[in-house]
Amino acid sequence: MAPNYVMIVALITFICFSLSFGDDAMLPTNNYLIAKPNCNESCGDVNIPFPFGITPDCALRNQFLVICNYSFHPPQPFLGNSRIEITSISLAGQLKVLQFISRDCYRAGISTDNNQPFIVLPSLLTVNNTANSFIAVGCDTYAIVQGYYTKFGTKIEYLPYITGCMSMCNSIDDVGHDTCSGVGCCKTSIPKGARNVTITLSSYYNYNDTDMKNDLSCSYAFVVDQANFSFSKTYLSSLQKAEKLPLVLDWAIGEETCEVAKINSTTYGCKSKNSDCQDNSNGYRCSCMQGYDGNPYLKDGCQDINECVDRKPDYRCVKNAICNNTDGSYTCTCHPDFSGDGYTECNRDNPQRKIQNIYLVIGVTIGVALMVFIIFGWSYTAFQRRRMLIMKKKFFQENGGLVLLQRLKVGEEGSSNTNTVNIFTAEELQRATNDFDKDRVVGQGGYGTVYKGYLKDNCIVAIKKSKVIDRNQIEQFINEVLVLSQINHRNVVKLLGCCLETEVPLLVYEFISNGTLSEHLHDKLKASALSLDIRLRVAAETAGLLSYLHSAAYPPIIHRDIKSVNILLDKSYTAKVSDFGASRLVPANQTELSTLVQGTLGYLDPEYLQTSQLTEKSDVYSFGVVLVELLTGRKALCFQRPEEERSLAQYFISSVEKGHLFDILDDNIVCDEGNAGQLKNVAVIAQRCLNVKGDDRPTMKEVAAELEAGSKLKHSWAQIDQQSEEIESLLPGFGYEYSEHSIHVDSITNHATIPFPGGR
Ligand SMILES: *[C@@H]1O[C@H](CO)[C@@H](O)[C@H](O)[C@H]1NC(C)=O
Ligand SMILES: *[C@@H]1O[C@H](CO)[C@@H](O)[C@H](O)[C@H]1NC(C)=O
Ligand SMILES: *[C@@H]1O[C@H](CO)[C@@H](O)[C@H](O)[C@H]1NC(C)=O
Ligand SMILES: *[C@@H]1O[C@H](CO)[C@@H](O)[C@H](O)[C@H]1NC(C)=O
Ligand SMILES: *[C@@H]1O[C@H](CO)[C@@H](O)[C@H](O)[C@H]1NC(C)=O
Ligand SMILES: *[C@@H]1O[C@H](CO)[C@@H](O)[C@H](O)[C@H]1NC(C)=O
Ligand SMILES: *[C@@H]1O[C@H](CO)[C@@H](O)[C@H](O)[C@H]1NC(C)=O
Ligand SMILES: *[C@@H]1O[C@H](CO)[C@@H](O)[C@H](O)[C@H]1NC(C)=O
Repeated sequence: MAPNYVMIVALITFICFSLSFGDDAMLPTNNYLIAKPNCNESCGDVNIPFPFGITPDCALRNQFLVICNYSFHPPQPFLGNSRIEITSISLAGQLKVLQFISRDCYRAGISTDNNQPFIVLPSLLTVNNTANSFIAVGCDTYAIVQGYYTKFGTKIEYLPYITGCMSMCNSIDDVGHDTCSGVGCCKTSIPKGARNVTITLSSYYNYNDTDMKNDLSCSYAFVVDQANFSFSKTYLSSLQKAEKLPLVLDWAIGEETCEVAKINSTTYGCKSKNSDCQDNSNGYRCSCMQGYDGNPYLKDGCQDINECVDRKPDYRCVKNAICNNTDGSYTCTCHPDFSGDGYTECNRDNPQRKIQNIYLVIGVTIGVALMVFIIFGWSYTAFQRRRMLIMKKKFFQENGGLVLLQRLKVGEEGSSNTNTVNIFTAEELQRATNDFDKDRVVGQGGYGTVYKGYLKDNCIVAIKKSKVIDRNQIEQFINEVLVLSQINHRNVVKLLGCCLETEVPLLVYEFISNGTLSEHLHDKLKASALSLDIRLRVAAETAGLLSYLHSAAYPPIIHRDIKSVNILLDKSYTAKVSDFGASRLVPANQTELSTLVQGTLGYLDPEYLQTSQLTEKSDVYSFGVVLVELLTGRKALCFQRPEEERSLAQYFISSVEKGHLFDILDDNIVCDEGNAGQLKNVAVIAQRCLNVKGDDRPTMKEVAAELEAGSKLKHSWAQIDQQSEEIESLLPGFGYEYSEHSIHVDSITNHATIPFPGGR
């Protein structure tokens, strides 16, 4: 039941809609004048608009006279005095009429009926050639249509025309159902502008040779409105009863063109203001301009369309708009508080709200953009940070961070007085050095570059960045950190921490402001400021430290690279030993260590060089060279000097042996009677330190004690003076020639690394 109900509702809705739409369409037409005043506007169901009229007074001229026959119910209009019945007249220029059918009938070869009507139209009416066709129906039929047609041009001509078609068939069974193609029905078109139509209908055999010869058999012919007519086989018999068929005619107000017609205003057909004229193939017609409706052939026939009342959808203002009808047009304006053009939109228009809306849109746009930006940035930085973290972790592991942490932990557990090594982050050190700015470089050496850095707490530090990290020596690197973390001595450059997150490890030291001892000794100006006292103090402090490393530290430490470059001086010329890169911790039960020979040429212990057995006496030798350097101000190794003077150690010993000590002393050391003995004693210490045989060298403890005593008891040096002369001078040649081929000489630092098989 439900579907039916729905269908019924739908149907009712549809009907109502159709009706209301129909009303709409009819509305304007009914309101306008269509006939002349005091003239009947219709005949029966047919509207008769001017120029047509049912009396001569009501029609424009005779040609448009419509005779209304009130004998019919409803009354029927006919075209003039003809028998052409009118079914509708449109102001657009068409006239629908009914016209008679031509008929030609036979029975047994004898004609029974031959009705051949013809259509003659007034000159302003023509048969519409596109809407109509000439059709003949029959089985023994030929039909001819002929007449005159109008040829419009510069001169109007009436030309004859003749055309026709033939339809044959043996029986009704031969006829195709609904096709008009020559069997039972034929069709042809008529020329444009046909004015009178004469139909000639005939048969070849009077139907005597068809199967239908004994029945009443007819042929029919007519010009018909194609839209109204579609052939059916049944027409062969049924058309007999039909009398008339629809025909479409065109009408014009005048045969001339608009241009010609406009010349004589009394005869010009478009009487109304606001009317237009259109040329057509059969003359000219009139119409109301856009925005007007009515009958253009009547004076004041074209009336303004009140679009504001008219409910046609194509002229309608939108909701909330005011419609103002104007002559020929209309305007739509939005109500106050609404904005828009009135034709397509009217939106509530609160200015504040509008501004708010704009702000809202801008805000939302910015917000969204910002959010996208932030999300993108965040995820990007998160990605970067993650990548950095992974890299850092990797570097930390590669740089032995884990080992170090482990070792430090063990150390902490083992002994309580271990210095803590700070682990710095890469960012911290980057910030401290202004991203390793070139301007911050304070030193460059074989191991890498040293930068001056400022930590957050304004603490000045020196940051050593290795050039490359030899992965195989990570243990050693860790050792260095550990060694330094073990030492807590005022004459050591303090290691504050390290950073293992970077590709190469970074070491952070306290910053020593005054440069290296080497700089002070070999720079003329600075050297002049280095008094003997300072030199001896530096020597004593260095010796003290080494003594501490060798004897007091546990396990003992061998520095392995004592040289003037590695001794830094602070403002008050306090010695600070640095660069424990090569240092070794000596296991408790061992006094000597097989290692890869490492050290700096000129400072390198010749015995160690030969045996590659590292003992603390190697440091004693190196210290001896530094001591000589302090006394003489000469470089430990200088290839520019004559051969016998190249190695400072050798040259010093030979000079002292020859008694030329005072000749080779630094010019800045003022020699007087007061310090001559002291100098001699120091020279003796140096001599002993430089002993080729390690066992014959004094320990650092002894050296330190002597130097300490010397600097305290400056004046008692004379006593020891005699001893010095007793000291044997065991000064051999090293028995070893430095050759660039056998020793790798690092061009910057003169670091030599001599690979001894099985040395480690
Ligand atoms: C006009 O029509 C009415 C009926 O609708 C008719 O009685 C009257 O005679 C007609 N007038 C003319 C002039 O035909
Ligand atoms: C009206 O039609 C009838 C019947 O066809 C006819 O007899 C009569 O003459 C017609 N009247 C006019 C005025 O044509
Ligand atoms: C019709 O045809 C028949 C023979 O088929 C013939 O006898 C008769 O005369 C014809 N009728 C006419 C009117 O020609
Ligand atoms: C013939 O009728 C068609 C369709 O109704 C129309 O478009 C055309 O303008 C008419 N021809 C003339 C000459 O009026
Ligand atoms: C056909 O029309 C022409 C021109 O209007 C006219 O001269 C002629 O007599 C008409 N023919 C018939 C048979 O009425
Ligand atoms: C054709 O016109 C006649 C008469 O006006 C009408 O009875 C018939 O229904 C129409 N046929 C079609 C298919 O429109
Ligand atoms: C206009 O036409 C009328 C009627 O046919 C005629 O009397 C008049 O002389 C014409 N005027 C002109 C200017 O051709
Ligand atoms: C409507 O339009 C007319 C003429 O265009 C004008 O004079 C009149 O003020 C308008 N009325 C309104 C309500 O806009």
